Amino acid sequence: MNRGTSFILNRTADYERMSHAAADWVAGRLKQKPGLLVVLATGSSPERTYQLLAARGQSEPELFRAMRVLKLDEWGGLAMDDPATCEMALRNSFIDPLRITPDRVEGWHSKPADTNAECERIRLWLEKNGPPDLCVLGLGLNGHLGFNEPGAFLQPGPHRATLSPESMRHAMLQQAKGTPGFGLTLGIKDILQCREILLLVSGEAKRRQLERLLTPEVTPEFPASFLWLHPAVTIFCDEAALPKGA
Ligand code: GLP
Repeated sequence: MNRGTSFILNRTADYERMSHAAADWVAGRLKQKPGLLVVLATGSSPERTYQLLAARGQSEPELFRAMRVLKLDEWGGLAMDDPATCEMALRNSFIDPLRITPDRVEGWHSKPADTNAECERIRLWLEKNGPPDLCVLGLGLNGHLGFNEPGAFLQPGPHRATLSPESMRHAMLQQAKGTPGFGLTLGIKDILQCREILLLVSGEAKRRQLERLLTPEVTPEFPASFLWLHPAVTIFCDEAALPKGA
């Protein structure tokens, strides 16, 4: 269904069906371009999609043989092997089961000695290897994308972010051994430069945010609204997240 927006909005019954539909969609993109460079968010929204793709790798390993992955964001200050890091989440659900070799994975170090140098490293990597073909995103409870948090302005490139109170309450941190001091994230321009964007939105807790996203008003107070500036955004949502009347 397209609600008069520039987004392609696919509604599904529940989280499981949303995840299956999204996994099929990503698999379709991989069939078209085996060497797809994909930026991956973590969190609960894409978690099942990644598991389903990983399961598909058992029967169709050739589908994933050339794909490349870039980590969207990371909790800064946690040890790389802290169970809460985006690194561990992606390794466990996606990278390791699919045997994506280290030369095909790039991402933030969670505890860099020099955060400016780390941001510059990712910027240069993107300059050399980008733009990515696809960016898989979740919608933050406060409208953030990655750690592009709401505020008076957004930053275009890879940067160190001040974590919002909502981010500090994120479920991923429940299993953290340490406390993150900051976020590391691709910037809004990096996200918008990806050729296609896949946004996953599930659950009643995201309904208000999805409703706001579907309102064509672009503001740094709601970073996901910048997706209005992108020509190829596909959203998969479930009934619980769907605004009434949509
Ligand atoms: C987290 C991550 C994002 C993620 C978002 C939504 O803090 N930084 O990459 O997409 O918030 O998370 P969830 O899907 O668990 O709601």
